[in-house]
Amino acid sequence: MKGIVLAGGSGTRMHPSTLATSKQLLAVYDKPMVYHPLSVLMLTGIREILIISTPSSLPALRTLLGDGSSLGLEISYAEQAEPKGIAEAFIIGADYIGNESSALILGDNVFHGAGFPKLLCTARENLDGCTLFGYPVSDPERYGIGETDADGRLVSIEEKPLKPRSDNAITGLYFYDPDVVEIARQLTPSFRGELEITDVNQAYLKQGRAQLIRLGRGYTWLDAGTHDSLLAASQYVQVIEKRQGVRVACLEEIALRMGYIDAEHCHNLGAGMKNSEYGRYLMQVAQSVA
Ligand code: DAU
Repeated sequence: MKGIVLAGGSGTRMHPSTLATSKQLLAVYDKPMVYHPLSVLMLTGIREILIISTPSSLPALRTLLGDGSSLGLEISYAEQAEPKGIAEAFIIGADYIGNESSALILGDNVFHGAGFPKLLCTARENLDGCTLFGYPVSDPERYGIGETDADGRLVSIEEKPLKPRSDNAITGLYFYDPDVVEIARQLTPSFRGELEITDVNQAYLKQGRAQLIRLGRGYTWLDAGTHDSLLAASQYVQVIEKRQGVRVACLEEIALRMGYIDAEHCHNLGAGMKNSEYGRYLMQVAQSVA
């Protein structure tokens, strides 16, 4: 399975903070926002990842993450010249995906919860068509919404409905089989002029090959795409990290625990940032597993 982080968009909702940098590089408390979606792909066991972003944001993303080898990953980059829709990721990434299945995650999505790695790996193994992840929200009119029947089967998907049929938001994490590229190529742009991810999901639903996994109350899902939600995400991460003494979305730690890098390498990565608490944490984690 290949991974795609879609980290483009105009960022206008966060001006002036995003006038000189991309939203996905803003900090969620102690680390860049893009670490969060990357951590989800890594926890799914994905090591080949394509980051799609704007021409102006790509250089800084490359400076931050390089080719991914220091995390045991292979990271590639591609441009989305204009925000023409989330589903355009599959057209831009068509050659990269080839005949493989793929996981797409939006660059401003933050997920956290016990058992999430297991849930992700099981979803990956059982993928047949498309798998979406649902989360109950109090403001469903702001999201793609999935309605399920009494047996939990997905029966409808709507984008930002005025009268939502359920409170089950479809999060910005999507697993697809290789057909997604062809489905995306056949889409017509919406009234917003965008290739809508909801249209992709509806195509799978029509074929009876769309599944929704509900993330229950024990999970946290936030999209950090506004000043208020970014602050909420930062406060959430701060509370968890201070209370538990462990870090959320710490890519080096995940790479170590997944066996992508060894303890010595993790220690060296920490030593390179030893003036920060983050760097010292990496050194401690490396020592604890060595
Ligand atoms: O966050 C989950 C929601 O994401 C889903 O429930 C919706 O079904 C889905 O359409 C999407 O809704 P948003 O209103 O959040 O979409 P937005 O246009 O804000 O784009 C989400 C992120 O994707 C944002 O960080 C920017 C990035 N993006 C977006 C577009 C349209 C790109 O990188 N390129 C694009 O062309």
